Amino acid sequence: MNQNHRGKRVGIVGAGNVGSTVAYSLAVRGVCHEIILRDNKVDVAKGKALDMSQAAQAIRSHTIVKVAETMEELRDCDIVVITAGSPRLPGMSRDDLLLTNAKIMKEVVTGVKEYSPNAIIIVVSNPLDAMVYVAAKVSGFPTNRVIGMAGILDSARMAHFIYEELGYGAGQIRASVMGGHGDDMVPLPRYSTVAGVPLTDVLPQEKIDAIVERTRNGGAEIVSLLKNGSAYYAPAKATAIMVDAILKDTKQIHPIAVMLQGEYGYSDVVSGVPTMIGAGGAEKIIEVSLNEVEKAQFAKSVASVQKLIDTLHKNNFFDE
Ligand code: 2OP
Repeated sequence: MNQNHRGKRVGIVGAGNVGSTVAYSLAVRGVCHEIILRDNKVDVAKGKALDMSQAAQAIRSHTIVKVAETMEELRDCDIVVITAGSPRLPGMSRDDLLLTNAKIMKEVVTGVKEYSPNAIIIVVSNPLDAMVYVAAKVSGFPTNRVIGMAGILDSARMAHFIYEELGYGAGQIRASVMGGHGDDMVPLPRYSTVAGVPLTDVLPQEKIDAIVERTRNGGAEIVSLLKNGSAYYAPAKATAIMVDAILKDTKQIHPIAVMLQGEYGYSDVVSGVPTMIGAGGAEKIIEVSLNEVEKAQFAKSVASVQKLIDTLHKNNFFDE
């Protein structure tokens, strides 16, 4: 492979539904020069890469989609998106996936560290916040270069549920969700608006409470309908938005999962917080003022993630 490439190269590990939809979304928008897919099912990945490269040609995008048969071939990436892992099946919580996916994450990140040492890692695998923690520890990268996708997805889900209640305002809704990507995530109606109008001005409290609950179960709602898999269009789009923000150095604020180092009063734990994203990855964590109820919800969410991290430590995961 050309090691002196000048265009941007995005690696995607795991070419299942989420990974390949991220690749497709990036390819047809021409946001980077090369997309490299890596999946254990090499022929399937090759088929998808060809198909997407042809789609890119059809719309006159310059992006080429290729396959790396080994982690070694996935080299010199500017960004590596990691979607690899066992997916969430009906009846399974994201946490059930912890140890299985932590091992996969460790193996993948070890490869990224070796072959793309300057990359920004975007973790998508579940349980999301714990996987970001694993990626940060295993890579040893500065924490601005190890981030996770969840908040953009959860906020988009909340925005859609607000739309469904209102019946108007689609595309004008700014919903805000913080905390971990789990059952204790923290939707923030107080920071959610429809074209700038506070949610409380357009919906009664019981409807808002129902939207908060539905947002927390947003992933499970889709899993129960799909029966043998989990959501991928919105997760992929949310991931592509992060890739875009980094490659274009937009300096825009998005909710992402990131290692906290004193922010919000927590350290050495990953949670979802509004963050300014640019070429350096997570360039600045924004500290939103939370009221006592919101602080307690955020604390509960952080504690859930901490419990997973403790489980990994108890299993000597980081010593092996
Ligand atoms: C989702 O929220 C399964 O975490 C994934 O759709």
